[in-house]
Amino acid sequence: MAERFGDYQSEIYLRGLAGTKPPFTTDLASLDTVAARSLTPETFAYIAGGAGSGATMRSNRAAFEKWKIVPRLLTNATERDLSTTVLGTELSAPVLLAPIGAQSIMHPDAELATARAAASFGLPMILSTAGSRTIEEVAEASPVAPRWFQLYWPNDPDVCASILDRARRAGYSVLVVTLDTWTLAWRPRDLDKAYLPFLRGEGVATPLSDPAFRARLPKPPEEDLAAALLLWTAIFSGTDFGWDQLSFLRDRWPGPIVLKGVQHVDDARRAADAGMDGIVVSNHGGRQVDGALGALEALPPIVRAVGSRIEVLFDSGVRNGADVIKALSLGAKAVLFGRPYAYGLALDGEEGVRHVLRCLLADLDITLGLSGHRTPHEVSPSVLHRS
Ligand code: FNR
Repeated sequence: MAERFGDYQSEIYLRGLAGTKPPFTTDLASLDTVAARSLTPETFAYIAGGAGSGATMRSNRAAFEKWKIVPRLLTNATERDLSTTVLGTELSAPVLLAPIGAQSIMHPDAELATARAAASFGLPMILSTAGSRTIEEVAEASPVAPRWFQLYWPNDPDVCASILDRARRAGYSVLVVTLDTWTLAWRPRDLDKAYLPFLRGEGVATPLSDPAFRARLPKPPEEDLAAALLLWTAIFSGTDFGWDQLSFLRDRWPGPIVLKGVQHVDDARRAADAGMDGIVVSNHGGRQVDGALGALEALPPIVRAVGSRIEVLFDSGVRNGADVIKALSLGAKAVLFGRPYAYGLALDGEEGVRHVLRCLLADLDITLGLSGHRTPHEVSPSVLHRS
């Protein structure tokens, strides 16, 4: 039976009769304003900030504004089913939780809360290499959930192989390799506060618990955290790889591999040629290259070039149901949803993430129906008008 996500709307109105309001706003595009009032300045800046002038973040939103949905009528859209399958993973809706590292700075329950919230809706959380809980702890927190793992590619082959092995053994089915963050961008909002969570021991649980990583240290991280963090920096940041090196990952990961951060058609073609199973068209939410293309602008030509060969996913700037419909209409199989759930986690832990997801899914369900569609598979570029 398809989930009736839109029912969250009537639930909110009915609870209102007893004087109850939603825990925080249902307008996910304005969550940052709410979060700015409650979070520490460091945490807020780390979530909200982007590369350089912030131009790429603005372009991400502007790209969505250029496309308009043209609703259709009398399509029998009363009953809807948002479910879909991506790379062998069944999803209750075409939405995955984007990998977001260092969630302990947002809430003490960190990735465990997010994993439980995602599991309660049958949506995969993509666990970051930069998680504040280990691969195994997150798997334990969501035993029956679909699980994907995101790799920040370490330059130490033994550490890389060990982490991949752990993820595979813990039941993560799809590997997402993030290629656009091999070194950290110039991020003035964090720089001004001289704040980077990882150097304070947040978001390093997986490497610090890794046997191959620990074998490189003269003393265990519990005895000399500073030395462990220095090694973390040396292994996880500052090394760019080449296309020929993807075979290292292919040989060590039996399941589907998805490359995250693709913006150029030629890179999308190279991913397909290299035997990858999918890509995420993404600019990391504007956190890496300042002055870059709005990510949605990159989607249509990439789908035309490789959409019949590999799965194309999308992220960067998704804030509401209409955004999801636009990305799907332009050929994405599903979207990765990022900052809004991080704000939800920071505001109210697992319940906060659940509220944010319920809002997105209800809005998606209702807007899909009102625009004349019953499933995510029915939409196509003809649903949209470019203004
Ligand atoms: C991220 N993102 C990210 N991506 C990744 O592959 N590994 C990671 O550890 C992180 N960490 C991270 C932290 C924070 C605070 C943010 C906001 C983002 C990028 C993320 O997966 C996704 O690409 C963006 O969040 C998409 O942009 P929007 O829609 O959130 O603006």
